[in-house]
Amino acid sequence: MTNKIHSIYLSILFLTGVLITIGIAVYGFDYYTTSMEERFFNPLHNLLKPSGTVGHGLGIIGSFMMLVGVSSYMIRKRVRRLSRLGLLKHWLEFHIFLCTVGPILVLYHTAFKFGGIVSISFWSMVAVVLSGVIGRFIYIQIPRTIQGHEKSFEELNEENAEITIRLREKYKLDEKLLFTIEEFLIVESYTSVPFRKIFQTMVKDYFKNKSILKKIKKSLNNYNLNKFRKKEIIKICKSKLVLTRRIGLLRSMQKLFKYWHIAHLPFAIIMLVIMLIHVSVTVLFGYTWIF
Ligand code: HEM
Ligand code: HEM
Repeated sequence: MTNKIHSIYLSILFLTGVLITIGIAVYGFDYYTTSMEERFFNPLHNLLKPSGTVGHGLGIIGSFMMLVGVSSYMIRKRVRRLSRLGLLKHWLEFHIFLCTVGPILVLYHTAFKFGGIVSISFWSMVAVVLSGVIGRFIYIQIPRTIQGHEKSFEELNEENAEITIRLREKYKLDEKLLFTIEEFLIVESYTSVPFRKIFQTMVKDYFKNKSILKKIKKSLNNYNLNKFRKKEIIKICKSKLVLTRRIGLLRSMQKLFKYWHIAHLPFAIIMLVIMLIHVSVTVLFGYTWIF
């Protein structure tokens, strides 16, 4: 998949999610904003109630999307024979799409009424989605190969050194300027960051990096470089800053990601188990949708 096709793929997923969410909200606005006592008299009640033709269908489709989103990613990640079937990161994007839109459909299925034991499934679903967002953030802090495997320290240091070589050889930056840039980008400054202070450090880092880039820009003004060249150099310095931080925080992030997995999975299991009980109970009570 080229970068352009990948952008189109992401845009289609994003637009589909937004259109579905807004479409149902607009269609059911009148019903969802009616109080529980008066809903019975609303013309959309028979369609949008959890057991209604549309409401029930949304529950089934949403749950199916989540099941496909979780199982497809887990299978693709674990079965070696499938390792050539698209990039893992694209499968993760598909997981995120199905496991975001699926819960939105389930939310509409509940018609914003969270009663009974199945509400545990609902709130577990909310917890998995929220923890998913945090997990995604940690995931992108750990540099990976194109295949989605974590890069080693050695690979990352090599990449970092290559950027310096590129700045020296392609952009012909002199040693003094290179020294100035390297001075700002010290991996070791991160090693003393305690585990619990990672996020605080990252926020501080964001502002610190802005001021470092400003200083680098200022130093570049002393050189006879055209606007285009300067922009390119700044872009490379930016990527070097990000890489430096990622190398510095690699161990902590890997540890955090391990803990995150331990928290994410149980909620997913609780949600699935109670969902299965809920589905069995509703089928036993004779709710079979359109079949
Ligand atoms: C994680 C997935 C699901 C969640 C969180 C969920 C949640 C809920 C909630 C909160 C209600 C309303 C309960 C109430 O009226 O107090 C409900 C009702 C219902 N759900 Fe689900 N649901 C899910 C999936 C499904 C699926 C896959 C089906 C069908 C195969 C289904 C079928 C029904 C039916 C038929 C009702 C109406 C029951 C009644 O009126 O007594 N649900 N669901
Ligand atoms: C109901 C919704 C969701 C469920 C049930 C779910 C379930 C899972 C499960 C079971 C895994 C473990 C996969 C494995 O180890 O192979 C996983 C991984 C992951 N999920 Fe979700 N997820 C949901 C939503 C989300 C969302 C909304 C996001 C992001 C916004 C997300 C991001 C991730 C990430 C980053 C991983 C780690 C991938 C890896 O380590 O390779 N998830 N999810």
